[in-house]
This record gives sequence, C-alpha cells and structure tokens, in this order.
Amino acid sequence: MYGPHVAIDEMSLKINSGATALLGPNGAGKSTMIKTLLGLIQLTSGDGEVLGYNIRTEGDSIRQRIGYMPEYDCLTPEMNAIHQVKYCGELTGMNTNVAMQRAHEVLEYVGLRDQRYREISSFSTGMMQATKLACAIIHDPELLICDEPTNGLDTKARGFMLDTLFQVVKQGNRSILMCSHLMDDVEKICDRIVMIHKGKLIAQGKIEDLKAIDREIEIWVWGGASRMEAALNDAGLTPRRTGRVMRVVRQDETTYDLVLELAAKAQVQIRRMEDYEPSLEDLFLVIMDRLGYGVKSSADLLQSQPPTTSVAPAPSQPGGNF
Ligand SMILES: Nc1ncnc2c1ncn2[C@@H]1O[C@H](COP(=O)(O)OP(=O)(O)O)[C@@H](O)[C@H]1O
Ligand SMILES: [Mg+2]
Repeated sequence: MYGPHVAIDEMSLKINSGATALLGPNGAGKSTMIKTLLGLIQLTSGDGEVLGYNIRTEGDSIRQRIGYMPEYDCLTPEMNAIHQVKYCGELTGMNTNVAMQRAHEVLEYVGLRDQRYREISSFSTGMMQATKLACAIIHDPELLICDEPTNGLDTKARGFMLDTLFQVVKQGNRSILMCSHLMDDVEKICDRIVMIHKGKLIAQGKIEDLKAIDREIEIWVWGGASRMEAALNDAGLTPRRTGRVMRVVRQDETTYDLVLELAAKAQVQIRRMEDYEPSLEDLFLVIMDRLGYGVKSSADLLQSQPPTTSVAPAPSQPGGNF
C-alpha cells in the first residue's frame, strides 16, 4: 500500500526461469511489483523470494545478482557513458579494471560503441535506454528485470532494443522479467505472461496456452451485416462485430457449418471465414471482459474501473483456467 492506496492486492505467484512478461495497463502495479521484488520498497504485507533471497530482508543480495533496468531516469547527465556503466559495475562489486573492460564490451553490445565517451546529457532517449541496459547487464546477471524498456523509443530504436534483449535472453540463456504496457513488445521476447490490472492478478501462463482459450472464427460478410449479427446472436454465438467483420467463439468443428447455415438463412454472403489468431491485446480484452470489467478496446483499459459486482478469482494454476 502507498498510504491508503492499495497498489498490489492479494497477488500470489511463482515465476520460473525463462522469459516472462509482466503485462498490464498504466497504473496496474507493474513497477510497484518490480520494486517490491528488488527490496526497493518496504512491503506493508506479504512476503516473497527472488533467487532464494528474501525480498523483505535481503534486497542487497537480490540487487547484486540481478540486472535492473528501471523505468525512471537513473543516469547521471554529467557522466559519459563509459564511466556511468563502469560505475554501475563497481556498485555490484567489480574491481575498477574489470568494470572498465566490461563497460566497453557491454556498450558495444547495446550499440553505443561510438558514443561511449559522450556525455549522457547529449543522448537521445534511445541512447539513454541503451545505456540503462548496459548498466543492467555489466555483471552478466542470470536474471534481467526491465521496466518498460522501450518507453519513449521511436520504431528503429525500439526494434534495436527488443533485438538486443532477445539476444541477451535467447543466446545468453538468461532469464528476463520484462514489464510493459505494450503487448507487441512482450510477444517478441517472452513466452510466459503474468497479466495484472488494478493491482490484481488476472491471468498467467504460457502465451500459447492462454491464447487457446480464445479460439475465434473471423467472418467477413457482404450486405446485411446487421442481419448476420442478429442471426448469430439468436443462435447463441454472441458475435463481436466491427463493421462487416465479426468474430464468434469457435465452440467446435461444427461452428463453421452453423455459421454457413445461418448466413444462408439470413441471405447474407460470406466473403471470408477463417480461424482468428488472437494478439495478446485481444486476449487481454477477452479476459477483462470475462472478469466483468466491460472493457471493449485498448483505449478503455486506461480508464476502466473494477466492476461493482464481485470479480472472478484469479486462476490458481498457470495455463489459464478461468
Ligand atoms: N510512490 C507512490 N506513491 C503513491 N502512489 C503510487 C506511487 N507509485 C505508484 N503509485 C500508484 O500505485 C499504482 C500502481 O502504480 P505503478 O506500479 O507505477 O503502475 P504501472 O507500473 O503498472 O504503471 C498506481 O495507481 C499509482 O498511481
Ligand atoms: Mg510502470
């Protein structure tokens, strides 16, 4: 709690090694969760461990072992990049020579070889984010924790950041816990997600397993979209419609035939019908909808309030049994 404000509410979870994303809209509690895991903020209740160390009492040991790329601005503007990164190495306990050598290596790795002697105050946001990443990986941590690593980056810098993170994780065989409100970013790097909203856990598991709960068929119709929508509704298929395109949940193999029969009866042409591959954002919306938040678009996510009726409990098992 921050004063009377509950930032994380009855959240219980276990995150295995690998690439995991902490997902949720702004204000969900992602950064609070990360700072809690690092022992940077004092818990008002609850407990936990990171790499076997207690988050209440052994924050120092945790922070020495992990790499942390914070959301906030943590660089010293008057320093040049090489000294900033070396300094971070020294803070984790490296001797000066080793820290300097590693600083050169990691700055090259994050694409700042030619800018390493420049003052950070002259850096673009992309270069600052890359410097933050260099600071986080100088001691080659087994677990990297990144808070909104692509924040404020243009398309090119964002692509480069995601590629670099991907390499750290996949080639370096390291674990990452990455938090983001950008679902696309997450999908490039992580195979597991923890979704939170308003401080509550709403889903967790492998992305592919979670997506399997939302198997839909997308139908493109021509003429009489409203008639088709009504027919689908009458048949209990409750379509989600955007103009001439609608999606229904695929109950089983017979759903396709049912849709065709309904279209024939309603005298509507079907131009295209295919299995829909949901994005993480779709999945988030579906889950929110099932929990009763009434969120229909990603824009709504930023304003959504919890329902006044009771919220369905968060899944107790990974794999999305909600
Ligand atoms: N230092 C703080 N003092 C008071 N409230 C805070 C503080 N930091 C965050 N909050 C509140 O806690 C909630 C979660 O914030 P945060 O963890 O930063 O979310 P996220 O990182 O998912 O955007 C928000 O409602 C935010 O306003
Ligand atoms: Mg945050």
